Amino acid sequence: PPLDTVLNMHDFETIARTVLPEKAWAYYSSASDDEITLRENRMAYQRVWFRPRILRDVSSVDWSTTILGQKSSLPLYISATALGKLGHPDGELCLTKAAANHGVIQMIATLASCAIDDILDAAAPGQTFFLQLYVNRDREITRKYVQHAEARGVKGLFITVDAPQLGRREKDMRMKFVGDDAGAEVQKGQDVKKDQGVARAISSFIDPSLAWKDIPWFKSITKMPIIIKGIATAEDAILAYEAGVQGIVLSNHGGRQLDTARSGLEVLVEVTAALRRRGYWPDPRFEIYVDGGVRRASDVLKAIALGAKAVGVGRPFLYAFCAYGQEGVERAIQLFRDEFEMNMRLLGARTIDEVVPDMVDAGSLAAH
Ligand code: FNR
Repeated sequence: PPLDTVLNMHDFETIARTVLPEKAWAYYSSASDDEITLRENRMAYQRVWFRPRILRDVSSVDWSTTILGQKSSLPLYISATALGKLGHPDGELCLTKAAANHGVIQMIATLASCAIDDILDAAAPGQTFFLQLYVNRDREITRKYVQHAEARGVKGLFITVDAPQLGRREKDMRMKFVGDDAGAEVQKGQDVKKDQGVARAISSFIDPSLAWKDIPWFKSITKMPIIIKGIATAEDAILAYEAGVQGIVLSNHGGRQLDTARSGLEVLVEVTAALRRRGYWPDPRFEIYVDGGVRRASDVLKAIALGAKAVGVGRPFLYAFCAYGQEGVERAIQLFRDEFEMNMRLLGARTIDEVVPDMVDAGSLAAH
């Protein structure tokens, strides 16, 4: 269908399903086990209601913000998703070029199909990137990779901690991984297992022994801000704060890891309350992000009202470029932009700072 008939993120998913090869659809859309967390990621947002304010002169509204001190035209970033070339020959470069044109930050995946240098070489001057890190058993590989990214101007290191072993994504496991069809060049596992789906084939290098005691080492090898991606409880949010990192992503990896883990939004309420009780937060040096199931600007605004600095968006941008390349991603960003304008007007918030806890009724989130 023509791109201008695509009106929301759900449309991109529907279209991607029809155009993608079966294997790519299985890898991108799947989540672990019974996919309960995947569905809950959407449902959690549907349990939170707005408390809009009126008569506030919303003739001009501004939804721009900063993430780790970097300008962002929207309070969201493109989260890391691996193997972009399964779905489009240009892979992650579609994201890079669209992000450049719209002032959006892209998080580069360790398992991107495009080499990190190809992505950074395609960047516009001053374009901002974060790096998602899967920690290699061979720390020398990780050290070089991180320091190379920093030297090339990447502005934040997101260490993924919720994947010491890949979740069982059964849809994906029914597919066989064939050779280099996804072109993930970086740190490919030496002992590639080709009979258990795409995800397992490429992830065997990830170090399951990673632990809190390793965090100082990351601080010793980079000056980039360090963010822990994959926090799911207040207990671990407190440990992250005490470890002196600059932020956390409350995430269940898009439902692809521990099934029946809670949604990031649910966890957010618990985390902010616990950090507050300890006097740790609010703290401008510690940012909290949420990802999983964000499909509307209204979802983003709910997370922000509950304390998130920004949110990560994964599959929608992936589906957008699978179906339409760079232009699809630009359309997706534009749709979010239009939704922010309308939703902020209707909510009575002129700036992101005016999106406050009283604007949502989160009483039905369990942790509240
Ligand atoms: C991911 N995600 C992910 N996360 C990560 O830290 N490293 C990775 O390599 C990947 N790869 C990946 C591939 C695919 C196909 C998906 C769908 C997701 C998780 C991603 O960063 C993010 O946490 C979720 O995608 C957010 O959920 P939504 O927006 O997809 O619902």
